[in-house]
Amino acid sequence: MAMIALSHIQKYYGEYHALRDVSCDIEEGEFFSLLGPSGCGKTTLLRTIAGFEELNSGTVTIAGQPMANVPPNKRPTNMVFQSYAIFPHMSVAQNVAYGLRARRLGRSETDGLVGDVLRKVGLEGYGNRAAHALSGGQRQRVALARALILKPKVLLLDEPLSALDRNLREEMQTELRRLQKDLGITFVFVTHDQDEALTMSDRVAVMFDGQIAQLSKAEELYRRPATKRVAAFFGAMNILPAAFIERTETGVSVQIAGLGHAHVPAHLAPPGAIITPLCAGVRPELLTVLDPGQTAREHEATGIITDVEYRGELTYYDIQLEGADQPVVVSMRNTADRQILTEGATARIGWGNASAVLLEDT
Ligand SMILES: Nc1ncnc2c1ncn2[C@@H]1O[C@H](COP(=O)(O)OP(=O)(O)OP(=O)(O)O)[C@@H](O)[C@H]1O
Ligand SMILES: [Mg+2]
Repeated sequence: MAMIALSHIQKYYGEYHALRDVSCDIEEGEFFSLLGPSGCGKTTLLRTIAGFEELNSGTVTIAGQPMANVPPNKRPTNMVFQSYAIFPHMSVAQNVAYGLRARRLGRSETDGLVGDVLRKVGLEGYGNRAAHALSGGQRQRVALARALILKPKVLLLDEPLSALDRNLREEMQTELRRLQKDLGITFVFVTHDQDEALTMSDRVAVMFDGQIAQLSKAEELYRRPATKRVAAFFGAMNILPAAFIERTETGVSVQIAGLGHAHVPAHLAPPGAIITPLCAGVRPELLTVLDPGQTAREHEATGIITDVEYRGELTYYDIQLEGADQPVVVSMRNTADRQILTEGATARIGWGNASAVLLEDT
């Protein structure tokens, strides 16, 4: 049984159709992310689960219980808001204990629970510190502790890390993930950062315009995006026109603009009848700039380097191939013995049948 079942959710704000027939199941203990551009409806969907939105139609079921008439404070969920609101004039312990206010517990019981949860979020010994005297990352942990102290079945997190700088953010990503696995709580995590969604989640729902465009495991979303739009949103992707030739038992034969003929394996092609026009999505890291004398295992194409971008660990080359409208981007790892090529040079690109994923050009 799913921990959260959303079925045909429709939500209008006046005329504006904010959620368009959203259905999905979120499993118990899952780290589930909602990813999409600003305004696509992520917060609205999270608030729907929490019980803060009046729906036009559709149902929310949590742990097998229909939520239609259940107010937010009676749901087995807790939410960490987009702008984390902690009370600066209170101590850390008072902030965290605020999460227990409805329970009317005694002093020693409260202190025990606050101590436990502060330890879990890495703030042991900070209870008496004034909340205003904390760093951004520490405040975020306090907000998290306050949401966790009631041991909700489901924790809803609305871009909890977006205010943090990059290093702290990466550190908190790892910690949040660990905490979620340790506690076994179902997390529904909103982000508009694709790397964050990739590294943290068991599954990711990509949303555009109030709809779920694709719901998959993170690796699958990256490797096999269902549409051009998902492919382009989720990491760098070369999109090249492809002409359909034939489908065989093992895959689909196509002619890819600039690259040439390929037999794309069946798992990287759309199932069922092929609807044309098609295009091929090719990740920059699945193309290789060949060294002099090196030969490609499967296919080779030649082009002129039009731009070189050195980024420390990787170098990105823009390479104009004959027959392609625009340059393809190729990323190469900078190893100790690999020379960085210059703009204007001729480059040979090595690639394979599994470098491409076929997408219907909708
Ligand atoms: N109370 C409201 N009244 C009218 N329109 C609203 C209301 N709340 C949200 N919207 C609209 O609904 C759409 C979805 O909003 P939502 O806050 O869910 O987006 P989001 O995906 O969380 O975006 P962001 O990444 O910027 O937080 C937006 O176009 C927004 O303007
Ligand atoms: Mg939002």
